[in-house]
Amino acid sequence: MPSPPSPLPPPPERRRFRQRLLTWYRRHGRDLPWRRTDDPYHILVSEIMLQQTQVDRVLPKYAEWLDKYPSFQALAEANESDVTSTWYPLGYNIRPRRLHSIAREAVAHYGGQLPADEETLLSFEGIGAYTAGAIRSFAFRQRAAILDTNVARVLFRIFIARGDPKSHAMKKRLWQLSAVLVPVRHVFDFNQALMDFGATVCVARKPKCATCPMAKGCRSYPFVADRPA
Ligand code: ADE
Repeated sequence: MPSPPSPLPPPPERRRFRQRLLTWYRRHGRDLPWRRTDDPYHILVSEIMLQQTQVDRVLPKYAEWLDKYPSFQALAEANESDVTSTWYPLGYNIRPRRLHSIAREAVAHYGGQLPADEETLLSFEGIGAYTAGAIRSFAFRQRAAILDTNVARVLFRIFIARGDPKSHAMKKRLWQLSAVLVPVRHVFDFNQALMDFGATVCVARKPKCATCPMAKGCRSYPFVADRPA
């Protein structure tokens, strides 16, 4: 029998988590160019580039891309081989092709913009649940949840810590958790902070528990090997 899902944290614990995460982010969050914009096109380009590619490799390409294709309109008008060669060497050619087709659809059906509602965003090929949440929270400041590998690891470790982190049921639970945690205000910073925290503190191997602001109350902390004596 699978064990019942762990309960969602009560409101005071959610508030504490938000506060600690935002305080940490204001001190330690990285200053990245896609955090200085709420332009839906810029946000989409950054999120698609960041799928499976490290921030350091994305930075120069992001600048080059926006220089060359500053809008959905400009990207839609480019030819496909130009688009894939500009993307090179980020790899995974499916991603520039998707971005290109999203641009063409945005121009053909949405006046060269991205729609803000979840259902329409999800109807684009290449926009899944994570990317839709990122666009809604970063570009439109909606109270939308995100869940990528980093965020799933952070939430699993802090709030759950038992069961199979990769199971379908767990993924569903982690989405629910992300949704109850995301605040009404500061959605942009909160979701960026979740990702940064997973990328720099609650990393997959050798998480930095000794200096982690979430250690107190973290359900995995009692079990990690490298905590201070
Ligand atoms: N990975 C995916 N989205 C990201 C973002 N907005 N900032 C940093 N890393 C990311």
